[in-house]
Amino acid sequence: MAESASLATEADRRFMAAAIRLSLWHQGLTGENPSVGALVVRPQAEGGTIVGRGVTALSGRPHAELQALREAGDAARGATVYATLEPCSHIGKAPPCADALVAAGVARVVIATLDPDKRVAGRGVSILEKAGIEVVTGCLEAEARRAMAGFLSLKGRGRPFLTLKLAVSPDGMIGRRGAGQVSITGDIARRAVQMMRVEHEAIMVGVNTVAEDDPFLTVRLAGLEKRSPTRIILDPFARTPPVARLFAEAARHPVLILASEKASRRQADDLREKGAVVQTVVSDYRGRFDPREVLRVLGIIGLKSVLLEGGAETARRFVDAGLVDRISLFVGTSTFGQDGIASPVTETAVPPGFEIVGSGRYGDDRLIEYERID
Ligand SMILES: NC(=O)c1ccc[n+]([C@@H]2O[C@H](COP(=O)([O-])OP(=O)(O)OC[C@H]3O[C@@H](n4cnc5c(N)ncnc54)[C@H](OP(=O)(O)O)[C@@H]3O)[C@@H](O)[C@H]2O)c1
Repeated sequence: MAESASLATEADRRFMAAAIRLSLWHQGLTGENPSVGALVVRPQAEGGTIVGRGVTALSGRPHAELQALREAGDAARGATVYATLEPCSHIGKAPPCADALVAAGVARVVIATLDPDKRVAGRGVSILEKAGIEVVTGCLEAEARRAMAGFLSLKGRGRPFLTLKLAVSPDGMIGRRGAGQVSITGDIARRAVQMMRVEHEAIMVGVNTVAEDDPFLTVRLAGLEKRSPTRIILDPFARTPPVARLFAEAARHPVLILASEKASRRQADDLREKGAVVQTVVSDYRGRFDPREVLRVLGIIGLKSVLLEGGAETARRFVDAGLVDRISLFVGTSTFGQDGIASPVTETAVPPGFEIVGSGRYGDDRLIEYERID
């Protein structure tokens, strides 16, 4: 089956961009499924009218296309459907979306990206084409793949997509040794970080950050508190203080501690009693995990996206292992001087293989975003 992105019109790209935005609504909330967006559009001379919208439902079912068709009803006959992922062709808990599109009598289906599973890629398209439906593939493919990067990472690499977020002072420091939590950025940037947490399935930090900063690592944006992701602590010796504040909400927002086989059983049990799940990860003789193994374990758990929030040592290990996919670097306004903790990533020391993909301003602070170019 040939890719046919060149057949996509300007209107197609506009509707697909809207479908991609819609897909983001349930990012991180669709279990092992990707969050897909779908629109049913009645074509008109001036572009078209949206008559049905769908985003993969919470926990993954029903799929976006079925919801969009349901909303469109009879108006789906002869319409164009925009789907950010190839409509499914396999019979699972529900009939395949490709069959539902045929039954609804749609005339045209525009798809951003094919199924990442090579064994079934193209099957949904061929069901549609055999039924005489015009199919366009590859419309805004790069944008759609970015929107479902977590799903594609887990499917393709067996591990979550890893974003490193760090706040640095203009002189490249992420904190001050022994000073606990120090403000590097202002309130607006801190809120932006909370929004990033909403968009990820888990936050990960090294144990020193918990011991020194005593962070909550939750989302405290009004109305979005429920979207706090799983908190993961890399803690080979199970030395997370049982009085740490992040245990306060362990019943609602899970705390996962990755410990080595060298951890004291009593300390691990104390942390379990506080509500944490303590998972043993293979380590070397010093109790160090291979960062690859950490991500493999998180992949087995089914996590699609993880926000690595430091500290310096933890970030450095993942950067050095070449496992960071995206970097969100907030740069504050006050310098720290010599007693600062040096950041493994600064504006002038970006790991090789990354390029700037975006930048912005949050109050007085700046955000620079980098992505790995493969
Ligand atoms: N500005 C920011 O964005 C930001 C963000 C977070 C933290 N911080 C600051 O950073 C400072 C803490 O940073 P840090 O570098 O001292 O410590 P850290 O990165 O928070 O924690 C390092 C510890 O985590 C464990 N760990 C990490 N990766 C591991 C691996 N692959 N295998 C085994 N264990 C692993 C080790 O524990 P063991 O020592 O038990 O082996 C290691 O010593 C704090 O002052 C905090 O304020 C700043």
